[in-house]
Amino acid sequence: MNHWYFPQWIAHRGAGQLAPENTLAAFRLGASHGYRMFECDVKLSSDDVPFLLHDDTLERTTNDQGIAGKQTWQALAQLDAGHWHSAPYKGEPIPSLDAIAAYCISNGFDLNIEIKPTAGTDERTGTVVAEHAARLWQNESRKPLLSSFKPDALQAALSMAPELPRGLLLHQLWTGWLETALMLGCVAIIGNHKLWDTSSVTQAKSAGFKVLSYTVNDEADVQRLLALGTDGIITDRLEFFKP
Ligand code: G3P
Ligand code: MG
Repeated sequence: MNHWYFPQWIAHRGAGQLAPENTLAAFRLGASHGYRMFECDVKLSSDDVPFLLHDDTLERTTNDQGIAGKQTWQALAQLDAGHWHSAPYKGEPIPSLDAIAAYCISNGFDLNIEIKPTAGTDERTGTVVAEHAARLWQNESRKPLLSSFKPDALQAALSMAPELPRGLLLHQLWTGWLETALMLGCVAIIGNHKLWDTSSVTQAKSAGFKVLSYTVNDEADVQRLLALGTDGIITDRLEFFKP
């Protein structure tokens, strides 16, 4: 089950904090720093179009406000998701998952799609994102890695597109984390880097999982995680860590 082709270094939200997160401009900047795999957050518009955004609400990273998932894709596509970051990115739009897929596929880049449902939409978001990803990557041998903190979203993705690799995101080692990852047919566990020590890495690896960490921005943490034998690092520090 565990065929793993992903690189060790993954650029968080496209380019960490160097460019507006979860935009195509961020992916382009990440690629210019030598990154060949990107993490992004994906949720659904009110008309079920998957698009990139971290927060449930628009305030922090766009020129609008309120719940993003209550707006149609046509409305979301008009917003400025760049100017909040810095003036050169003014007018940078929110990308659809389709647009990011086209960019990654045409450049041979790998993608980690974090399924980030608007509150109350875990199952629907997992289903629709997996359906889109399966179709978008249907002719590719390297599929994207779908991940989520929400088991219900991963369960829905498993039902819709079992062929897509899945990773369970963990902010803590809650009771049953290993059994849940096994039940969801995951290939990887992506933990907050502070969760990993000899014991937890051994547990995950013995069960057949790849072990990844987010969001790792310090050299000492990188060295510790590499010494533990972990398999992937999601970072904001593209200017510092060179894959
Ligand atoms: O997918 C790893 C990481 O992005 C999870 O945390 O809040 O940055 O989406 P967050
Ligand atoms: Mg994320």
